[in-house]
Amino acid sequence: MAQDKDPAFVRFEGVEKRFGKVMAVQKMDLDIPEGSLVTLLGPSGCGKTTLLRMLAGLETPTAGSIYIKGKRINDTPIHKRNLGMIFQNYALFPHKTIFDNVAFGLKYRKISKQEVREKVEQALEMVRLPGFGNRMPSQLSGGQQQRIAMARAIVIEPDVLLMDEPLSALDENLREDMRREIDNLQQDLGVTTIFVTHDQREALSMSDKVVVMKDGVMQQEGNPEEVYNNSVNHFVADFLGHSNFLKGTVKEKKDRMTLVELEDKNTCLAIPAGQFSDGEQAEAVIRAQKMKLGYQRDFDKEPGMNYFFGRIVDRSYMGGEVSYFVELATGQVLHVISFVKRTPYRRHDEVFIKVDPEHCRLLKL
Ligand SMILES: Nc1ncnc2c1ncn2[C@@H]1O[C@H](COP(=O)(O)OP(=O)(O)O)[C@@H](O)[C@H]1O
Ligand SMILES: [Mg+2]
Repeated sequence: MAQDKDPAFVRFEGVEKRFGKVMAVQKMDLDIPEGSLVTLLGPSGCGKTTLLRMLAGLETPTAGSIYIKGKRINDTPIHKRNLGMIFQNYALFPHKTIFDNVAFGLKYRKISKQEVREKVEQALEMVRLPGFGNRMPSQLSGGQQQRIAMARAIVIEPDVLLMDEPLSALDENLREDMRREIDNLQQDLGVTTIFVTHDQREALSMSDKVVVMKDGVMQQEGNPEEVYNNSVNHFVADFLGHSNFLKGTVKEKKDRMTLVELEDKNTCLAIPAGQFSDGEQAEAVIRAQKMKLGYQRDFDKEPGMNYFFGRIVDRSYMGGEVSYFVELATGQVLHVISFVKRTPYRRHDEVFIKVDPEHCRLLKL
């Protein structure tokens, strides 16, 4: 595989890591194209850091091969991998100047002092903090310190930039700014980047490709729209955004759609993700934002649409949007997200929910 004419810039091939009884990463096959920003997304403990550490040379795979630019690097020492790293505790050296902090990455390169000065100043310009070299870390804000950490990682002109939850210690507003900052910087530099996060919004907003992981196993990879709109299983659909799941039995196929009988004998038309046979148990997944509410008294059935009837049991205002919780006759509660209207629905209101089958996907159980 490594001899492909156009090898992936970074390639994991059957990579595994076992810690005693724990399989931290299992059979990982992943290609990362040159210049792209790929996020590893999943809950705590799913193996994201371990995968990154194997690429960095901080852990040795128990099986499989890792390639950078077509070259197998399993046995290449850390300092010869030419990787830039930013970790969660991006701590700068507090008693060193910003210049020395950034220059630290160049310490083991045989280059002249003049060159070091130029490269450091260039890196500081890249993160939009030119001329900050003489300051101390304590004189900088949290966001500025984060940018210095980025400057330190890019000053070596790395082949790959590795970031392990670099934003999780920051508060919400700063995190959003930094997310954009990283995104822009990555595009300006065109540097291949692997970004680890457990925050789905972070992953969806900045990635060319999202890799969703669970228990050391890749669940799905694709661009943000793909993994969000065409989640391959319950875990992915549940982890990304707000999803509702309706269990039922497959009844019949109708063109592109499949008709499912739900537990309350109501039916739902959905787009099947894969092959289903009649009588098979399955679940329809519907995004909270794709459900439209109406009053039952105004109910007027449009052909080809799915309808569910229920009662509002709770609502919460989220600024611009409202979350409604609608209890069906079965007792199941659906989560509906609507834009704020002048007269919002109230608790105890009887409502119907309309969903276009185009927004219902049928998943295997
Ligand atoms: N050095 C280690 N020794 C033993 N178990 C480890 C070690 N590092 C990670 N693990 C285990 O491997 C699994 C994956 O961990 P990790 O890669 O840190 O996940 P994530 O970064 O997604 O939170 C977890 O079950 C974790 O406890
Ligand atoms: Mg981690």
